[in-house]
Amino acid sequence: MMISRRHVIAGTAVATAGLALPGWGQNLPRQKLSLVAPPFLPAHEQATQPGAKIIEVRLFTQEKEMVIDNEGTKLQAMTFNGMIPGPAIVVHEGDYLEVTLVNLATNTMPHNIDFHAATGALGGGDLTLISPGEEVVIRWKATRTGVFLYHCIPGGDMIPWHIASGMSGIVLVLPRDGLKDGAGKSLHYDRAYYIGENDFYVPRDKDGKFKSYDSPADAFADTLELMKKLIPSHVVFEGRVDALTGDHAMQAKVGEMVLMLHSQADRDSRIHIVGGHGDYVWETGKFSNPPEINLETWLVRGGSAAAALYTFLEPGIYAYVNHNMIEAVELGAFAHFKIDGKWNDDLMTQVRAPGPIKADPQEARKP
Ligand code: CU
Repeated sequence: MMISRRHVIAGTAVATAGLALPGWGQNLPRQKLSLVAPPFLPAHEQATQPGAKIIEVRLFTQEKEMVIDNEGTKLQAMTFNGMIPGPAIVVHEGDYLEVTLVNLATNTMPHNIDFHAATGALGGGDLTLISPGEEVVIRWKATRTGVFLYHCIPGGDMIPWHIASGMSGIVLVLPRDGLKDGAGKSLHYDRAYYIGENDFYVPRDKDGKFKSYDSPADAFADTLELMKKLIPSHVVFEGRVDALTGDHAMQAKVGEMVLMLHSQADRDSRIHIVGGHGDYVWETGKFSNPPEINLETWLVRGGSAAAALYTFLEPGIYAYVNHNMIEAVELGAFAHFKIDGKWNDDLMTQVRAPGPIKADPQEARKP
């Protein structure tokens, strides 16, 4: 059988049983990963067996109109798998990720994908640039642990535009023996959530109302002009204002350890849980570094993803925010955790309910 360079790159030469090319993982067991919509992660093991696998995923690029706030503002969105952010992918260190990238025939533009966790060829961008109606397969080895961004990188103005239109997501590369604290103790999470933060730039008309467009091409010039001013119209989690509040709040129980993965492809973000903390935080998202402990707020550098573990200790509704409160409250970077369980009075209690000021002789003497 002839194995052309293209076949090897595209990963289609693997069907020949017993074919062993040194340095490639053709003979490894294969596992299809079913991707799910954020904030959820695909079912996965935290610690796993020593032997590496080839993890297969299918990603498709889709251009579509999406509503991004409660006023019905429309974005000419660009997505992986029809969602913003793109789905989280989970592998273990030493695994190979084999990605089938599809550019839907209904799209109007070339798209590709740059995996920050991958090495070489623009993180795969050079090997995956495809036109509407095409697909491509690449495989790369997960050599470094951590949580890493992926995004579209088609070239020139298309790069920031496609990213600011929604084309980013994460790959979580877990250590084979799971997460550890700084002293080597294993850390096991009970739930995991992926919060993808996006800044959007929707142009306004002369009356200050958000404009809508019939296609990405129609939106391009106005959007690019606004993007260059670096003032987003929206900063949101999970693709729209209130995607993760109220009935859509992330949930957990008192005493459960929750893994929170947070990405931002362009701008910096600063994550804070109002009334909570980060017990273990990999601010840069890379597990070979010891986690910081007991943080109040952690920085998510633009172009990266952070990981934090927190065991909720009190029940109630917690706001999970970008602690630029202007971005949180005015632009949308705001979510909720709904925590069930029993209140611990020792950690906090209201000693006296609100009521009239009681007379205090010292205060009474003040002018
Ligand atoms: Cu794209």
